[in-house]
Amino acid sequence: MGSYLDGVVVAGDRRGRKLGSPTANLRIGADVGLADGVYVGTVELEDGTRHSAAVSVGRRPHYYEAGERLVEAYLLDFDGDLYGQKIRVEIGTLVRGQRSFESEEELVEQIASDVEAVRALHG
Ligand SMILES: Cc1cc2nc3c(=O)[nH]c(=O)nc-3n(C[C@H](O)[C@H](O)[C@H](O)COP(=O)(O)O)c2cc1C
Repeated sequence: MGSYLDGVVVAGDRRGRKLGSPTANLRIGADVGLADGVYVGTVELEDGTRHSAAVSVGRRPHYYEAGERLVEAYLLDFDGDLYGQKIRVEIGTLVRGQRSFESEEELVEQIASDVEAVRALHG
């Protein structure tokens, strides 16, 4: 089995909705044995439903030089408020590393292609 992370969804910068990819954010320590990057993932909600997700692990280098380390999950088929929910994020294949971009538009384009990669890998 792959690795997973349990946690309570915390508020982020609320930028994700504007970018078109709202994320459920969990705080994680630096000691979690998981490299920064973008992963294929699955998120299990409190009601037991499971959702394919593009999962970003890291410190958002496009915005911060040394940001807080977060796990951010963009659920592909879900639209709703997850703040305060206890969720499980299952981590699958690594898609790429974290990076910064020339512009926010380029980050948005990259996230769109990450989502396509996640859909393809989930089948
Ligand atoms: C699939 C995916 C890939 C991401 N890749 C990066 C990245 O390479 N660099 C980066 O700085 N942030 C990356 N992010 C994080 C976004 O910057 C972050 O979700 C966005 O700024 C919204 O932040 P907020 O949830 O605090 O509002 C990624 C997010 C997702 C969902």
